[in-house]
Amino acid sequence: MLGNFTFCNPTKLYFGTDAMKGLDEELPKYGKNVLLVYGGGSIKKSGLYDQVIKILKANGKEIFEDAGVMPNPTVKKLYEGVERARKAKADLILAVGGGSVCDYAKAVSVSVFCDEDPWEKYYLRFEEPSCKIVPVGCVLTMVGTGSEMNGGSVITNHEQKLKIGHVFGEEVFPKFSVLNPEITYTLPKYQMVAGFYDIMSHILEQYFSGEDDNTSDYLMEGLMRSLIHSSLIALKNPKDYEARSNIMWTATWALNTLVAKGKTTDWEVHMLGQAVGAVTDATHGMTLAAVSMPYYRHILPYGLSNFKRFAVNVWNVDPTGKTDEAVAEEGLRAMEKWMKELGLVMNITDLGAKEDMLDDLVNATLIMDGGYKVLNKEEIRDIFKASF
Ligand code: NZQ
Ligand code: ZN
Repeated sequence: MLGNFTFCNPTKLYFGTDAMKGLDEELPKYGKNVLLVYGGGSIKKSGLYDQVIKILKANGKEIFEDAGVMPNPTVKKLYEGVERARKAKADLILAVGGGSVCDYAKAVSVSVFCDEDPWEKYYLRFEEPSCKIVPVGCVLTMVGTGSEMNGGSVITNHEQKLKIGHVFGEEVFPKFSVLNPEITYTLPKYQMVAGFYDIMSHILEQYFSGEDDNTSDYLMEGLMRSLIHSSLIALKNPKDYEARSNIMWTATWALNTLVAKGKTTDWEVHMLGQAVGAVTDATHGMTLAAVSMPYYRHILPYGLSNFKRFAVNVWNVDPTGKTDEAVAEEGLRAMEKWMKELGLVMNITDLGAKEDMLDDLVNATLIMDGGYKVLNKEEIRDIFKASF
């Protein structure tokens, strides 16, 4: 049953090869001071940096830069960004990059006018902002996280060995996002396929919750089928516009709150993956891939009917004459085959995790209660052991 909900997604999207014109439309709505946030330099190599600077200047903006946002942005970098934004008296934070840059921009946006320690307030106590929020706009360069149209913001604290996401409300969503699939062509294959699996995981972790007849499940099955189809085309030809644009659009809809309606949502794979990220600093999508198969095989008996549905409706498994268990297993095997074909990392050893990190991994894993089985610490330990 869908139950009661409100739905509002306030992010305005500009999509396609001419999406950059969205910047010209949006910039006049904000004050003069723009904090331009970006990562380790990919946007300089690709020429996107020059393009953005030109548009900012043409719109009469005073540009302040905050470069070097790392994949899995750290709390140390967040403190630095807050100081920069304060000095710049930023009227707009413009994030040009992947999910890390967008997430970081949101974290800065809720911290500039915050009197408390943002790590403790937002990421340890999960409190909502009670201060003025600086508006954020995004130019997306990497597809996967959905950060371009949601309130998610994940920050890593290496000292505390924790990687934690806060899902903020609509007031923190980007005001606008520019999505040009061609900008993603320069992504290395490793990042491209990691993003593909991030999308899949976002969908799966909403799909595998609840067992009622729900419109959201039908939407998600369509998104997954589109992703699987287009991912194999993009793997062969990364410059296939049709495939890359379909994947970009799928990623946005996978995590912009729509398909969560009527679902309890699980997110345990993200909690396991974030623990791996906290300990190894590995690429987000790969951390999810590396723990997924042991996790899904563990929870399959608790959500058998939807695992069977997944096998039939997403992977075209023929159920005739087979037990439900056999059909469900066949679906997972089909997914595993697809993951290997993409070249995803299928174990945490290859991401740098070692047996002596097991305690840290278990301690860093938050336990969620929306999936088919609420894990206990022993089960989490067993899933990590099976992921080495
Ligand atoms: O830093 P630069 O030089 O830009 O290089 C980046 C980075 O090294 C590179 N890259 C990005 N676009 C490129 C490119 N290289 C060449 N050409 C391009 N067009 O790719 C590398 C990875 O970028 P990153 O932003 O870290 O990747 P992603 O988009 O996967 O973001 C990962 C972060 O998002 C969080 C993750 O936990 C992780 O911290 N997530 C955020 C979510 C949300 N907001 O809702 C949900 C997700 O589940 C996820 O947890
Ligand atoms: Zn993710």
